Amino acid sequence: MQVWKDYLETNKDRFLDELLELLRIPSVSADSKYKEDVARCAEAVKQHMLAAGCDNAEVCPTAGHPIVYGEKIIDPKLPTVLVYGHYDVQPADPLELWHSGPFEPVIKDGRIYARGACDDKGQMFMHIKAFEVMNKTNTLACNVKMMIEGEEEVGSDNLGKFLEANVEKLKADIVLISDTSMISMENPSIESGLRGLAYMEVEVTGPNRDLHSGVYGGAVANPINQLCKMIASLHDENNHITIPGFYDKVLDLKAEERDDLNKAPFDLEEYKKELAVKEVWGELGYTTLERTGTRPTLDVNGIWGGYTGEGAKTVLPSKAYAKISMRLVPNQISKEISNLFTNHFEKIAPPGVTVKVTPHHGGEPVVTPTDSPAYQAAARAIQATFGKDPIPTRGGGSIPIVALFESVLGLKTVLLGFGLDNDNIHSPNEKYDVFNYYKGIETIPFFHKYFAESKG
Ligand code: BES
Ligand code: MN
Ligand code: MN
Repeated sequence: MQVWKDYLETNKDRFLDELLELLRIPSVSADSKYKEDVARCAEAVKQHMLAAGCDNAEVCPTAGHPIVYGEKIIDPKLPTVLVYGHYDVQPADPLELWHSGPFEPVIKDGRIYARGACDDKGQMFMHIKAFEVMNKTNTLACNVKMMIEGEEEVGSDNLGKFLEANVEKLKADIVLISDTSMISMENPSIESGLRGLAYMEVEVTGPNRDLHSGVYGGAVANPINQLCKMIASLHDENNHITIPGFYDKVLDLKAEERDDLNKAPFDLEEYKKELAVKEVWGELGYTTLERTGTRPTLDVNGIWGGYTGEGAKTVLPSKAYAKISMRLVPNQISKEISNLFTNHFEKIAPPGVTVKVTPHHGGEPVVTPTDSPAYQAAARAIQATFGKDPIPTRGGGSIPIVALFESVLGLKTVLLGFGLDNDNIHSPNEKYDVFNYYKGIETIPFFHKYFAESKG
């Protein structure tokens, strides 16, 4: 629509400046040192909602970081789109690997470099700007509710409670989220699923104190050695996970579903080259796309213990630790998998050590339908601005709250993401292409228009 194009064209520079301003706020949810900044970021998001034309917007306190909620109801008879996103970001470390400050956004070669540029400030902010475009051109086709949280990167614990307490307020027809990725701008795609998550921390204790590794070495079980052995045993020679019962509930895809997924453009050589790995790794019998999109995994996210400082210290440590995550697929249940892990890990501990397993946050996997009017509206919106039909894909990441939108609010979700897999989310030098940012702002109004028509 020409009015949208014109408005975007006229306000382009301001839209970008406003995003950069937001990226300057270090809203790291995991680190309490940034609590004030997280609060400041919530306030900024609220101000942007009001400036864009929300009838009301509020910063809702929670037991953790606040949730920002804003809405504009143009006609109760029209369908309502509930936009979800998050303004919190992952910690920026390791800082020394950034080419510019994580909270000092710079634009280089058409890319915005900053923590949160893609995940999710850049993508979330597209919705506020698209709302502004529709509102200021008097072309809103749906009522809009926006709920932007500050704890996605730490498991959204308080958002679940917020949903339960606000079922009426959050009444809508669909949830719209931009917090996922596309294959490429040439091959636009829509993720039709997210993996679930079970995240564990383990502590392995050997002797009651650190020992001299010469005096005691060879006679007392070294907890780091033992932990490594235990971790190594969690995959077999085919890279299957060995935890008993782990795969019991996994839904196997039908042959045609697998074929469809593997039709998505994917260049294995390019993939390896981009990651600088000689070979890919994974569960025997599955392609790389299937491994990330449709199969469960187990990965060590961090492991520590003993001496890691400069030089050498001869020590047989008392303790070893690891953080281990499992990505889940339908119909695995986070709590069940976390129990299976705990029982198994305790069982495989050799007699010379004791283990303590502590579950962290989790989330359930979801599949979003591709035959619904909402998905079709998203597909038409992509067609309108990319000139191509989107390819449905299965994403490997997790957004734990999506399952609760369905179970608590009875709402389906459309994942209209504009990120790219090489945006370095959660990594140093996170970036978001300026092109994608504007493309998102251009595409979102079409979703509202087509979704309203489908409900018409
Ligand atoms: N936006 C991501 C999830 C994502 C990324 C989905 C790319 C699909 C493609 C989200 O912010 C995220 O990082 N989620 C966490 C889970 C959370 C509980 C920490 C994840 O997937 O590790
Ligand atoms: Mn995200
Ligand atoms: Mn993230």
